[in-house]
Amino acid sequence: MTVHYNRLTKEPYLRLPTPLSNIIITPHRLENIDETATALAEILNDPRVYPWLEGPPYPYQHEDGVKWIEAKCKENEDVLSTLRRYLEQREGMSNSKSAAVVSKQDREFIDTCPFTCIREVLEEDAASGAPLKDRLIGDMTLARYTFYEHPHDSEERSEAQRRNNELPTGDENIIWALGDFLAPSHHGKGIMSLAIRTLIHEWGIPHMNVRHLRCCAFQGNEGSLKVFERNNFERGVTLKDWVPVSESRGGGRKSIVLMTWRGA
Ligand SMILES: CC(C)(COP(=O)(O)OP(=O)(O)OC[C@H]1O[C@@H](n2cnc3c(N)ncnc32)[C@H](O)[C@@H]1OP(=O)(O)O)[C@@H](O)C(=O)NCCC(=O)NCCS
Repeated sequence: MTVHYNRLTKEPYLRLPTPLSNIIITPHRLENIDETATALAEILNDPRVYPWLEGPPYPYQHEDGVKWIEAKCKENEDVLSTLRRYLEQREGMSNSKSAAVVSKQDREFIDTCPFTCIREVLEEDAASGAPLKDRLIGDMTLARYTFYEHPHDSEERSEAQRRNNELPTGDENIIWALGDFLAPSHHGKGIMSLAIRTLIHEWGIPHMNVRHLRCCAFQGNEGSLKVFERNNFERGVTLKDWVPVSESRGGGRKSIVLMTWRGA
């Protein structure tokens, strides 16, 4: 179980296993904010992506991406500096030329997941294998669950969220949720199935103590449901006409399918 460390850019990252080891999951970066915001806008305005998502604004402006990335970088500042310090200490203790790694035995649990950007590596450092050039192809979030089974804006939903949010870091009763999207150019290659597996097993379980996971998808999003099933989630109830859809996305309400993880 490893978090990789790019010594050249000082960036911790996760890497998908073979045959998709050209795909990495990184934190957001301020240094290429314009490029990433452009990629986000391109993906999130695509008709093969935006109709399946509830959260992001639509149409998605470059400025939305810039604000999102700035917020994410700020939110992850502390956890990333702790991780960097740790990985650099390990590197100091080791003469190995391979990428530095962090293992679960050496860490306290962490409450957030800084690994959100799915990137395709375009160029690697020949000596260390560290990514030198990449591009954003998708996004994933692992955050505390928001209890879709309770009606939107209901007291029950706020109360369930409050109780879940109050559980301390590393508590095995915390319910976590996953969300994701991928550039259509990369659909159907098994990337999201393996990205979710990597995020759960390389970060969520060992570093956040994730024991309970739920997610949901709009009814009819067979691709998404399948990806979660491949990761040991099972389909639960379908809630008819449940999630309010913004006017810019066509308004009305969409039905959702709830999914629960069976565990590692
Ligand atoms: C859903 C999504 C993340 C899937 O990612 P992906 O990398 O293309 O999925 P994978 O290649 O890992 O596919 C996994 C399985 O789902 C199937 N699948 C993928 N897209 C599908 C689709 N549109 N319809 C039916 N099955 C589909 C694949 O054939 C594969 O099945 P298999 O195990 O039998 O081979 C991607 O299509 C996407 O970003 N969609 C738009 C945004 C979205 O829906 N996000 C999720 C919101 S809940």
